[in-house]
Amino acid sequence: MFNPLKSLKSALGRRTYLGVDIGTTSIKIAELTGSGVKPILKNYGVLESYGHLERLNNAIQTSSLKMLDNETAELLEKLVEQLDIRTTDAVASLPAFASFTTLLDVPAMSPQETAQAMEYQARALVPLPVSEVTIDWLPVGDYEDEKGIKHQQIFLISVPNEHIKKYQRIFKTAGLSLRALEIEGLSLARILTTGDLVTTLIVDIGARSTNISIAERGLLKYSAQTDFAGGSLTQSIASSLNISVRRAEVLKKQKGLVGMGGESELSTLMLPFLDVIIGEAKRVKNNYEKNYSPRLPRSEAGKGIVERVILSGGGANLLGIEKYFDEQMKLPTLKAEPFAKISYPPEVEPLIREIGAPFAVALGLGIRQFT
Ligand SMILES: Nc1ncnc2c1ncn2[C@@H]1O[C@H](COP(=O)(O)OP(=O)(O)OP(=O)(O)O)[C@@H](O)[C@H]1O
Ligand SMILES: [Mg+2]
Repeated sequence: MFNPLKSLKSALGRRTYLGVDIGTTSIKIAELTGSGVKPILKNYGVLESYGHLERLNNAIQTSSLKMLDNETAELLEKLVEQLDIRTTDAVASLPAFASFTTLLDVPAMSPQETAQAMEYQARALVPLPVSEVTIDWLPVGDYEDEKGIKHQQIFLISVPNEHIKKYQRIFKTAGLSLRALEIEGLSLARILTTGDLVTTLIVDIGARSTNISIAERGLLKYSAQTDFAGGSLTQSIASSLNISVRRAEVLKKQKGLVGMGGESELSTLMLPFLDVIIGEAKRVKNNYEKNYSPRLPRSEAGKGIVERVILSGGGANLLGIEKYFDEQMKLPTLKAEPFAKISYPPEVEPLIREIGAPFAVALGLGIRQFT
């Protein structure tokens, strides 16, 4: 059976791909061509659906993935048309909440044996019959223990078939061919940590959900998610100041956490929600460090502890957020710079500080077939 979670290197005759990130409030597309040392950005664009600001159930998708196929396909088709994109080969991302993932420590064995072991593990991991899920596993590390026994670390991903079929339908209706589908943590790990030994906590703050990942050397090692996100910050401003959500959204983007005097009230309103996200990020970090990294050889996995935070998603553009994360997490915190991994036309240069973080997933998807 065709497994869209598997890498599609065999389809590599084609040289241009669309990275398509269907978020809760926007669809983002990055069109990339593989050539030379770095993939080249040919085109990109975003279609934002502001309906969700007024009506909560008018998001493109909700955290139960209840997006309406036809409406989503229409929006996607509209965006492709607006951007005058001719490429039809697409790679898309699934939100973290649409999958079950786990990092396993198993003895070293042949790929065939590993495949069998993973089928078995998936049964234990997923609260659904195995026939209803598609699984994928990626070797993300190996080491030898004190007794000389070789171990491998495997990141196991399992996605309900229902979600995969939904994406296939949407892309087909939009006139695109879905070449591969992956959870968004994989796209973020690839674009933000490839070639980098530093163990990194990636916090992607979207509108409706925040994706928290641990990655190094382009490999995803841990993936978690919380429903507290950019929308929670906007809501807190709107309800406390008794203003419309639309107005609150404008204020949030204008002032961020750095407003002075009377405006500092805004940050006071947002911080409790940001603290929930930070609390979740700390929990993920502690869990990873306690359960997984001590077993890794120090040489391979840096010091075996999380050493840095990278913020992505639209929420990473909140003014002052890096400094606040830095202080609370007690770790150097940077805003994502996914454009560092690709070539792009000079006219895009002035925009990359602002569009980089929200486009991290789309760009990570766009380079998948070239790395
Ligand atoms: N300059 C800014 N300051 C603060 N927040 C911002 C800024 N720009 C965008 N945001 C917030 O980022 C969020 C949208 O981020 P993003 O585009 O990554 O979401 P999404 O991918 O559509 O949603 P999700 O990942 O939850 O499905 C919104 O909550 C928006 O208010
Ligand atoms: Mg997103």
